[in-house]
Amino acid sequence: MGFNEEILRRRTFGIVSHPDAGKTTLTEKLLLFGGAIHVAGAVKSNKIKKTATSDFMEIERQRGISVATSVMGFEYQGRKINILDTPGHQDFAEDTFRTLTAVDSVIIVIDSAKGVEPQTLKLMEVCRMRKTPVMVFINKLDRSGKDPFELLDNIENELKIHVRPLSWPISNGPTFKGVYNIYEEKLNLFSGEDKQTIAESIELKDISSPELEDYIGSKFAKTLRDELELITEVYPKFEVETYLKGDLAPVFFGSALNNFGVQELLNCFVDIAPYPRPVHAEERDIDPFENKFSGFVFKIHANMDPNHRDRIAFVKICSGTFKRNTNYLHVRAGKNLKFPTPTAFMAEKKSIIDEAFPGDIIGIHDTGNFKIGDTLSEGEQIHFKGIPSFSPEMFRYVENADPMKYKQLAKGLDQLMDEGVAQLFTNKFNGRKIIGTVGQLQFDVIQFRLEHEYGAKCKYESIQMHKACWIKTKDKEQLEDFRKRKFANIAIDKHGREVFLADSPYSLQMAQEKFNKIEFHFTSEF
Ligand code: G4P
Repeated sequence: MGFNEEILRRRTFGIVSHPDAGKTTLTEKLLLFGGAIHVAGAVKSNKIKKTATSDFMEIERQRGISVATSVMGFEYQGRKINILDTPGHQDFAEDTFRTLTAVDSVIIVIDSAKGVEPQTLKLMEVCRMRKTPVMVFINKLDRSGKDPFELLDNIENELKIHVRPLSWPISNGPTFKGVYNIYEEKLNLFSGEDKQTIAESIELKDISSPELEDYIGSKFAKTLRDELELITEVYPKFEVETYLKGDLAPVFFGSALNNFGVQELLNCFVDIAPYPRPVHAEERDIDPFENKFSGFVFKIHANMDPNHRDRIAFVKICSGTFKRNTNYLHVRAGKNLKFPTPTAFMAEKKSIIDEAFPGDIIGIHDTGNFKIGDTLSEGEQIHFKGIPSFSPEMFRYVENADPMKYKQLAKGLDQLMDEGVAQLFTNKFNGRKIIGTVGQLQFDVIQFRLEHEYGAKCKYESIQMHKACWIKTKDKEQLEDFRKRKFANIAIDKHGREVFLADSPYSLQMAQEKFNKIEFHFTSEF
């Protein structure tokens, strides 16, 4: 197969949801339909259960699982599909945001009883920023939930995206029969009782045929025909272009647990989801079809074994062909590196590969060379954009708790920050180090990992802080004035950029009003 065909057949996407909406179950069912696994239950959930906030063994166990399920590749209808897993736990939201920089499209899972939930809103914001094409799967129709039209309005209003149903549920709750496939204009009913495998299906092409009554009864048949008519009247015709621009989300209904509606989603997905798109770099846009290889690190995973503190860096291939044992430029470090054992992920199996194409994700063995956002190229100075840090929500001073282990602490903190576990700021005034996270859990994880992987001990001290904002201005005079007046609240992030640490919403507002020539940004990329 030629280079261009390899790119055109790749579909790299992420499944995101609010915890418990059914992301893991859907992923598993997609792998089942794709033939990548044969029995459900093979893919373990990477979520950290709510009860496990202080159970570190559980966290470690889950980290192990999430390496295995970071990327799940499989072949379906001639396409090479790469599913990128995202942590469900909201304390790891930043990890999910970064993973979204490596996908070409996204499937959002929504619980039909709950509608759009807070975590989904945040994730959608990232998709909107990047104009990522989005499909929606409304799950758990086998339970009594909200009315489907109400759910569509809810998505449109909350996620601020136009919607178009491409499948439609036949009843819900205990009388849920399955879904009508609007995209392919046919009815597919699964008869099997076994939810762990894919059962035989009955196919009905003509919805007006009286056969419909035989399958689902006259009451549901009438409702289905009426509702389909209403959909045609209310919603515009589906256009792939609008979806690809990120302006319209096709919506599918179903029950991942019962295999209802999943194949409809998958078949449409392989048909319309985008192949790898150009990626923005500071210097220029990089087209996947360019001959020269380029890629960036979007995730780093540390080994859980303290005796082998090596890591896996996950690289998204952006252009050209990546080849094993070939020298590539590590742009930030300015040195050439080659990789003898790059791995690819097929379902839950890992294997060493000789080459990889745009859209693929490879894992490379790293002994501490990489940070998130690093670029590899064939020599060109490229810096990929779009891996922002977001203002953390929680802050604490971090102090050394064992004077003999100062070096270990510094190294541990440095490496954990490279992995993107949290953000570290250094107060310019007093030099104190501040850790910023999106959730409480990270503080516990950092403390635990520093001790177990680096032999270092840290303690935290609480700090009154609301937000970290990256500041930018052309007005040097005002900047100097700002620096003078706010000297106690200015810090440096790990890239040496200046950050204003606002201790309350009020002080932030005052600063914004008083220093109106200064831009205050809540993400590090602007
Ligand atoms: P997540 O990854 O988005 O967090 O969700 P996950 O797939 O783990 O699903 C969360 C819970 O919802 C699971 O139940 C799962 O079995 C259930 N679920 C998923 N899809 C459906 C569906 O279509 N219908 C119904 N009724 N339930 C569904 P659990 O009891 O929390 O976990 P488990 O012990 O069953 O694994």
